[in-house]
Amino acid sequence: MAATDTRTPTVVVDGIDVEYRVFASGKAAGNQMSLASLKPKGVSTYRALHDISFVAHEGESIGVIGHNGSGKSTLMRSVAGLISPVKGAVYASSRPALLGVNAALLPNLSGARNVMLGGLALGYSKAEVEEMYEDIVEFSGIRDFIDMPMKTYSSGMSARLRFAIAISRAHQILLIDEALAVGDKDFRQKSQERIRQLRDTAGTVFLVSHSMKSIRDVCDRVLWIDHGRLMMDGDPDEVIAAYEGKA
Ligand SMILES: Nc1ncnc2c1ncn2[C@@H]1O[C@H](COP(=O)(O)OP(=O)(O)OP(=O)(O)O)[C@@H](O)[C@H]1O
Ligand SMILES: [Mg+2]
Repeated sequence: MAATDTRTPTVVVDGIDVEYRVFASGKAAGNQMSLASLKPKGVSTYRALHDISFVAHEGESIGVIGHNGSGKSTLMRSVAGLISPVKGAVYASSRPALLGVNAALLPNLSGARNVMLGGLALGYSKAEVEEMYEDIVEFSGIRDFIDMPMKTYSSGMSARLRFAIAISRAHQILLIDEALAVGDKDFRQKSQERIRQLRDTAGTVFLVSHSMKSIRDVCDRVLWIDHGRLMMDGDPDEVIAAYEGKA
């Protein structure tokens, strides 16, 4: 048994099972309408996570890896408190901020308006967002396009803006789902630098990515999820080697 762990926990995930409700769809929408298709269909459940447990600490940046559909985004949504587990519990020392590639920004509005919207969505006041605005635009590196509608942005440009919004203020717990993967090399470096800073100021960062390079560059610990189960939790090199050996 190792010496007593003196690090401060920020997130405790205690044996969670997470289920989605899936509504069976018959052929009712097609032209093969029959009485049989009008029968009420049951709601089935799909168990996306099975008995996941881990403890995250201040100053850790934790990679989350696994095949498509393994449950990584589900795990991030559970840590963020957006989905309740059917079994077990999640405890967090402060409200985690989830940065997903699908963050709700509006394509018809300008980047500038979306900065305001995104900031408000993260729980900041209008005055706070106004104060952060300059830093966000600077970090995004897309100042020349900030008054253009977001639908005219490339996916990398909108990813930059989302990332800049989400990381504008130090969150104690930041969950990043894939957002780095679409940025170019310069922006990835800048983002990674920002993540390290956050980690060094005692934050906890989770990074979901299919880029083992990003994971290696940023993370000091990796969780490998496979079919909704935690396969491994440990040193990035060891966990990535095991994942790649199997994949
Ligand atoms: N809203 C939903 N309703 C029903 N099932 C869902 C829902 N969201 C996800 N699932 C299912 O849960 C499982 C885990 O999905 P999840 O999105 O967490 O995977 P992931 O590891 O993030 O995958 P990816 O690498 O493709 O992003 C998948 O089998 C998926 O089909
Ligand atoms: Mg996902």
